[in-house]
Amino acid sequence: MTDLTKLEAELTARVGAAADLAALEAIRVEALGKTGSVSELLKTLGRLTPDERREQGPKINGLRDAVASAIAAKKAALETAELEAKLAAERVDLSLPPPPERKGRVHPTMQVLDEMIAVFADMGFSLAEGPDIEDDFHNFTALNFPPKHPAREMHDTFWLPEDEHGERKVLRTHTSPVQVRVMQRLNEKLPSWIANGQEPPIRVIVPGRTYRSDSDATHTPMFHQMEGLVIDRNIHMGHLKWTLDTFISRYFETPVVETRFRPHHFPFTEPSAEMDVKCDRSGRDVKIGQGTDWMEIVGCGMVHPNILRTCGLDPDEWQGFAFGFGIDRLGTLKYGMPDLRDMFASDVRWLEHYGFSAFQAPNTATGLS
Ligand code: PHE
Repeated sequence: MTDLTKLEAELTARVGAAADLAALEAIRVEALGKTGSVSELLKTLGRLTPDERREQGPKINGLRDAVASAIAAKKAALETAELEAKLAAERVDLSLPPPPERKGRVHPTMQVLDEMIAVFADMGFSLAEGPDIEDDFHNFTALNFPPKHPAREMHDTFWLPEDEHGERKVLRTHTSPVQVRVMQRLNEKLPSWIANGQEPPIRVIVPGRTYRSDSDATHTPMFHQMEGLVIDRNIHMGHLKWTLDTFISRYFETPVVETRFRPHHFPFTEPSAEMDVKCDRSGRDVKIGQGTDWMEIVGCGMVHPNILRTCGLDPDEWQGFAFGFGIDRLGTLKYGMPDLRDMFASDVRWLEHYGFSAFQAPNTATGLS
């Protein structure tokens, strides 16, 4: 009896004196754990006679309950004290601004692509695509580049190694091969999403990646072009000029544009031209729609009769024009990036500066989004 009272007094005193939760846990294990002092006492109950048990049972159980509740009370007190100490030591400054939220940006090429598509869609053009890895036939031969013609070298072509049929594919040097794929009626094994085999009249734009072994401030080995192709009856260069003038005016958001055709040579157009646009190059950025300078902006021409014939179209019935814009270049001209190579350097600081918000509608004079 005295032993139990003494044990209870001793245990509750130790519980009361426990300095922290770890010390309290050690006392709990010592008293109430599997081989703890109180647990051992409880085990003795089984060996007592019924009369002794009736007498000792409530006392030992009472001891266990007293110790357990002392521990629980001390635990709650220690936890509260711990929390209060923490609250006293730590401060939350609610006046601090939140850390900036990092948002992804739309790459300028993709923004410009959306803007270009919006303008051409408004003029009735639809989209077509073709493969980046192209065969010699579509990239060169069908476009009237004679075999061994120096123009093939001029394109600084990336050739792939010879395949098992002895054929060397190329990374397409321009988007013009898709002209052929669109006009060609019988088209091979290509998946149907690669638009091909349209009956004229045709009005398509073809955006895509193109590749040439070239690198300086205005050239990168990979860049983006947008091809345009119109095939119909009685199409002439006046239609080409109107289409390009209208596009340039809407894309650059300037009501007045002055352009001129300068004779040029492309094997797949006849006549061929480069179009220049009036601009002001005196400042840091080129300004389109003002000034007295000229700048080349797009290659174009009337589709060569040989191309039409190769694609199974009668040149006496169908005519058309084609043009090829550099998408990234149009971006640098409108948004003032000084070096084309930065476009593809994947520098996050550059992208944050020149990138666009994902929720900004294409910003064109058409008002289309
Ligand atoms: N494919 C030409 C180039 O890459 C551009 C072009 C396209 C010219 C269509 C005329 C017609 O330089």
